[in-house]
Amino acid sequence: MSTTVVVGVQWGDEGKGKFVDILAHEADIVVRFQGGNNAGHTLVVGNERTVLHLIPSGVLNPGKICVIGNGVVVDAAVLVEELTALRKRGYLTDDAHLKISDEAHLILPYHKAIDLARERLRGKGEIGTTGRGIGPAYEDKIARTGIRIVDLLDDAVFEEKLRRNIEEKNLYLNAILKEQGLDFGTIHDAFRRHADAIRPYVTDTALYLYNEIQAGRRVLFEGAQGTMLDVDHGTYPYVTSSNCVAGAVAAGSGIGAGVVRNVVGICKAYTTRVGNGPFPTEELGDIGARLRETGDEFGATTGRPRRCGWFDAVLVRQAARLNGLTGIALTKLDVLTGLDPLRICTAYRADGERYERVPASVRLLSAAVPEYEELPGWTEPLSNARRLEDLPANARRYIDRLEELSATPFTMISVGARREETILRD
Ligand code: IMP
Repeated sequence: MSTTVVVGVQWGDEGKGKFVDILAHEADIVVRFQGGNNAGHTLVVGNERTVLHLIPSGVLNPGKICVIGNGVVVDAAVLVEELTALRKRGYLTDDAHLKISDEAHLILPYHKAIDLARERLRGKGEIGTTGRGIGPAYEDKIARTGIRIVDLLDDAVFEEKLRRNIEEKNLYLNAILKEQGLDFGTIHDAFRRHADAIRPYVTDTALYLYNEIQAGRRVLFEGAQGTMLDVDHGTYPYVTSSNCVAGAVAAGSGIGAGVVRNVVGICKAYTTRVGNGPFPTEELGDIGARLRETGDEFGATTGRPRRCGWFDAVLVRQAARLNGLTGIALTKLDVLTGLDPLRICTAYRADGERYERVPASVRLLSAAVPEYEELPGWTEPLSNARRLEDLPANARRYIDRLEELSATPFTMISVGARREETILRD
């Protein structure tokens, strides 16, 4: 049995798309299990750049089955748009290659309206969400007022739930958020069209996965966002509204907790974050700007510039523990070429104490001063390296030290955006 989960170990945008795409070669099925179209996975195949928000990154590998699990929140309009664009480019031509859980919850236009209005009202204290309605959709799921895909496909049920929800949301939008209400008819019409477009793909994906795993199929679970954005283990409240750790696979796809064999953490050779919240190793000056420019650090979903800083080993070690990582894929090592010295954060100091873990208190973490160690940099470009021995000695030293501090083997190293610009150690 081969089941692998890929998760981000930092604040998302670690380059998961590239590794899911690579690992999908070895898989039969690729599954998303949490998050929604707040994710943006950029894939470069040949000279073609594709950004996916909802459909698993495995889709560019011909013949793979892609699954959107029950833990995902689905914006049906985005799904239909993504499907149409992929089909135009010759992908997903066989309907049997995409399966969508009938238990997944929908993101509705009122979720987006609420998300945006709340952020506006928060002003400077905004979370910096992607504005895609993710938080409000998960809130409704937990409050048991959400609308699932199975409801969408049953018009009488959908109409009743939608009518009731719109009534309630319009009261909230008008009275509390000072926003205009939404029109039931317009939303209902649009969603009836979406229902017809996605109906062929909807199924009991938990049962499907059970049967396929029993039959020995290789399954890859594709995490979105990152461990520090996890609603329980991240830098709350500056997090997303789902669990992003590897443990979320079982609940978010309906497989048994003991099924996952390998847990691969995707980790950038430095640190980035979009949105607000504490970021101890952030570099606000020239180094941050240089990382942003060289690393093309702009959000794949919103285009926002990412905040950039040095590698934070405290955070990565914590993520290794929380996810039970069996290996790390290090990304964007090439971006560090020309920076000398390189800094690695090994602990924080806050309120007179030394921390080798990420404290839960946002106040403490915001005040944390990193303890750095320095390593010499290198000037040679790395994109042609295919084996560790091809790397300059200082790049190898840097990797060795990160590996030691992260207490996890680095099994893959990325030295460029293309599939082939990768060092595979195993
Ligand atoms: P939300 O998920 O749109 O509610 O946003 C909550 C926080 O998570 C914000 O800081 C976002 O910038 C961040 N976030 C959500 N999705 C991603 C992602 O895929 N990559 C990086 N950050 C993300």
